[in-house]
Amino acid sequence: MKRSLIDILDFSVEEIEQLIKVALDISKNPKKYANKCKGKKLATLFFEPSTRTRLSFEAAMYELGGHVLGFSDAKNSSVSKGESVSDTVKVVSCYADIIAMRHPLEGAPLVAAQKASIPIINAGDGGHCHPTQTLADLFTIYKEKGRLNNLTVGFCGDLKYGRTVHSLIVALARYTGIKIVLISPDELKLPFYVKRELELNKISYIETDNLENALGELDVLYMTRVQGERFADQAEYERLKDCYILNEEKMKHAKNDTIILHPLPRVNEISVALDDDDRACYFKQVLNAKHIRMALILKLLAEKDVEVLDYISRCEISKLDDKKCSNPKCITNTEQELGQSFKLVDKEYDIHRCVYCEKKIK
Ligand code: NCD
Repeated sequence: MKRSLIDILDFSVEEIEQLIKVALDISKNPKKYANKCKGKKLATLFFEPSTRTRLSFEAAMYELGGHVLGFSDAKNSSVSKGESVSDTVKVVSCYADIIAMRHPLEGAPLVAAQKASIPIINAGDGGHCHPTQTLADLFTIYKEKGRLNNLTVGFCGDLKYGRTVHSLIVALARYTGIKIVLISPDELKLPFYVKRELELNKISYIETDNLENALGELDVLYMTRVQGERFADQAEYERLKDCYILNEEKMKHAKNDTIILHPLPRVNEISVALDDDDRACYFKQVLNAKHIRMALILKLLAEKDVEVLDYISRCEISKLDDKKCSNPKCITNTEQELGQSFKLVDKEYDIHRCVYCEKKIK
């Protein structure tokens, strides 16, 4: 199995530290990296809308001296004729050296990594995870706060469907002295499989719906957009979409050195008046994302022949013959002959989750 980035846990804390080092060097000495990917091609396969992630991957590859091919709309690809993810990536493996893929179905990049002969980067799969945004978030926190340990980090908004939240929380759970404050309405609470990661790592966390009261404690405030496209009920989205709006008045409750992050796009959840506040770091995050994606492309291309224990091999897999994943957004629903695979996540209570989307199996 070649090296891919499907889940942030595919990389150790040390590897992330190394990526941050390289990204810092890239930001200081861009010329040194200008030809590192000469003759190499990145394919961007975006089956879901994106501005930042796709363009930052493309800019990253150009700045490394490489080339980019791909599509930004599944309607323009053979997927519209019914082609599977497996077939698409087998084909693209003949044209490119590395793939960045975004897909609305959860687990699609994992299927791609199993089928492609080149490295796959998960650029967001449904409401599941988004590990490269996490690299950008960690890099930004490191640059702004000088550390990744001993931080109180608040997550506010749509913690249920916000894939960037899921990946960043799982990543932070591996550092020491981390406290997490989960700020959301009841309907948009963090999924259990992510909370479990906090519990396993003995990370203390609290859940609240009150942003003002939580603000004074935070070193980092991670704001998120309510993910309208993932709601089954649009009326519920309309009711919840403006549940939190961060503005100058509210920021008076925060410390002078609290940083505000947001993966963007922003809708209403941060007032534009805050953009001039020194604590607002969301546009810095965008530039940092390009630099750390450059570091990531370099790493995966350099390690493409390194044997690794991949995501599936790290799990205790069971077949559970009679069971089927019930998540309608799971890739196992559409991919021909993919079969079901479950991982045992809790021996005591015999709890299994789908390997692809992490939905609990009843
Ligand atoms: C996020 C995403 O796509 O999950 N955007 C991004 O990649 N920077 C967040 C969002 O869409 O709200």
